[in-house]
Amino acid sequence: MNASSNGVAVSARIRAFEAADTEPVVALWRAAGLVVPWNDPYRDIERKSTVQPELFLVAEAAGAVVGTAMVGYDGHRGWVNYLAVDATRRGSGLGRQLMAEAERLLVERGCPKLNLQVRSTNTSVIEWYRTLGYEPDGAVSLGKRLIPDVAGPIDAAT
Ligand SMILES: CC(C)(COP(=O)(O)OP(=O)(O)OC[C@H]1O[C@@H](n2cnc3c(N)ncnc32)[C@H](O)[C@@H]1OP(=O)(O)O)[C@@H](O)C(=O)NCCC(=O)NCCS
Repeated sequence: MNASSNGVAVSARIRAFEAADTEPVVALWRAAGLVVPWNDPYRDIERKSTVQPELFLVAEAAGAVVGTAMVGYDGHRGWVNYLAVDATRRGSGLGRQLMAEAERLLVERGCPKLNLQVRSTNTSVIEWYRTLGYEPDGAVSLGKRLIPDVAGPIDAAT
């Protein structure tokens, strides 16, 4: 149980994603500004449902989806994508709780390091990650699109 800045009690349970979460999860991502034209969130969910689906985390409170973290371990590094907390619940520790659960699950699998990418336009969240112990590590993030989600010339990163 945590308390939000306005004093309202917040109790969220973190569990694995279920198919019925699809629409609320996509709505949360859209509201959090995480859906970009070159990624189809439904395809991203479908793909994750076939690869380590148990690491696709959803935070649920009072029957509603209030947070997500899409975690993966490739045998060398762990990754977190689509970290999001419902705007009305931010600042109550849920983002920290989701990252702690991601780290716990990765350590449990023997993962030595968690990497994550922050879009260059999302500068405020970098400071937030620093408070959790994440630092820029001197690597340049490169990407190559292998399967386009949308037709057209968009060839962007994460
Ligand atoms: C990033 C995000 C998940 C954080 O979730 P949250 O639930 O608000 O974070 P928390 O409440 O756990 O924050 C934990 C701490 O960071 C602090 N904090 C919050 N935002 C911060 C910021 N921009 N800079 C520095 N510290 C910040 C909080 O005050 C809190 O400190 P405390 O534990 O000492 O009180 C949320 O803001 C979000 O969904 N943002 C939009 C989506 C997004 O950008 N995701 C990241 C994609 S890379």
